[in-house]
Amino acid sequence: MSFEKKILCIGAGYVGGPTMAMIAKKCPQYQIKVVDINPARIDAWNSNELPIYEPGLKEIVENVRGKNLFFGTDIDESIKEADIIFVSVNTPTKTFGFGAGKASDLQYIEKTARNILAASDRGKIVVEKSTLPVRTAESMERILNGNDKGMRFQIVSNPEFLAEGTAISDLENPDRVLIGGHPSEEGLAAVEEITKIYANWVPREKIITTNLWSSELSKLTANAFLAQRVSSINSISALCEKTGANVDEIANAIGKDSRIGSKFLKASIGFGGSCFKKDILNLVYLCEHYNLPEVADYWENVVKINEWQTTRSVKRVLRSLFNTITGKKIAVFGFAFKADTNDTRESPAHLVVRELLDERAIPVITDYKALPDAKRDLSDVLDKVQFTEDPYEAAKDAHAILLCTEWKQFAALDWQKIYDLMSKPALVFDGRNILDGEKLKKLGFEFMSIGKA
Ligand code: NAD
Ligand code: UGA
Repeated sequence: MSFEKKILCIGAGYVGGPTMAMIAKKCPQYQIKVVDINPARIDAWNSNELPIYEPGLKEIVENVRGKNLFFGTDIDESIKEADIIFVSVNTPTKTFGFGAGKASDLQYIEKTARNILAASDRGKIVVEKSTLPVRTAESMERILNGNDKGMRFQIVSNPEFLAEGTAISDLENPDRVLIGGHPSEEGLAAVEEITKIYANWVPREKIITTNLWSSELSKLTANAFLAQRVSSINSISALCEKTGANVDEIANAIGKDSRIGSKFLKASIGFGGSCFKKDILNLVYLCEHYNLPEVADYWENVVKINEWQTTRSVKRVLRSLFNTITGKKIAVFGFAFKADTNDTRESPAHLVVRELLDERAIPVITDYKALPDAKRDLSDVLDKVQFTEDPYEAAKDAHAILLCTEWKQFAALDWQKIYDLMSKPALVFDGRNILDGEKLKKLGFEFMSIGKA
């Protein structure tokens, strides 16, 4: 079968895989190829055990794989053939040199750009799908258009706004699609080319086009605002615990104000995920770079409050257990950074487990999807941590349960049975405010949650 266009995505991760699966589903006229330097990841995309868990993803992949969606490691050949290249490689926080701990580590982006240049024999549209510091497109252009083969590349920014756990519905019905490009004739044509892809299923009025820098900076700003809401409500949760106010009631009351809105006001043990912290720190770094220390401080506090929220939660549990948990079994319910994903990156549960280990407790972790990643993250302390798929086994003889992930299955457990299995006084700390505290107290539990006295 001949395809109208060949689209390539470099980077087969949480963004590249689902995004391209959705484009393949909605655009049978295009051939979509996803490549990665990690052969194990590509093998998994070609198998029945996809490398990531995302509700609804497997069905889509199984429907289009081998028809117009392909996964491979033949990066150079795929680059040569492609008309449009999405770049969806990881952009973690730099851990070394200038900007360590804040700036984005752009080595994967740069390598990809150089790879595209080396393997191409004609100009192409290159789409920034990864989240990048504002003005990265300038560096991409310098690399790609500094060639002596007369090839001209157009850079387009098309940040991704999907959230894990709801990636498929977010992709199917996005609030908006953002496409940034240069205002030149070629730039506008490239933006239109990318717009045409999304217009196969996204209403045109939801496709926003901007200049490159607005698009790049909108992505960092969106994540900063979302995380800021969580930190804001979490900061108020601490005040609630001192005053007898109830943070869920406050979220409900303020969320009814249409100017505030009700979403992203769920107090928690802390936000996690691979992006909020890294993107805010990247924003902080940019502000410092542009000599805006007040702006940098403002945003940095969103991250500081988040870490404080997790740490102070563990301290509350510690205080309730007579300030000593040495040798005590403590069950950690949930290790994923949120429900409906196997992703554990920057999960608050990770910090919780490390703090429990500092206190020489014995953490027993249970999760519905994230145990393999939890074992990887804790590979240096595997002899000190236990893992089980069975929450009842995790609770057996435990002095406390710290609920860290809002898996709805946790609320549906037989809590009487759990009470009977635990050491007394059986403490439950609900770090997600999903359990019925009154019911648990009646069963005999000592119960604590976020933002309630
Ligand atoms: P990921 O780590 O899951 O996937 C990135 C993939 O890129 C990896 O499989 C890696 O092997 C591959 N890669 C790295 N260098 C490569 C190269 N030179 N050639 C080929 N492949 C290469 O990361 P992710 O979660 O998919 O995130 C990717 C980007 O999207 C990041 O910038 C992130 O901030 C952004 N983002 C992520 C999400 C999310 O929900 N995870 C949402 C929106 C935006
Ligand atoms: C977030 C954004 O929501 C996406 O729009 C963005 O594309 C993505 O980051 C990214 O750039 O990677 P994600 O991190 O997958 O998506 O998940 P969220 O639903 O945003 O949750 C992030 C964290 O905040 C989770 O730990 C979640 O439990 C926590 N959270 C969220 C709260 O504690 N309270 C809330 O009210 C909402």
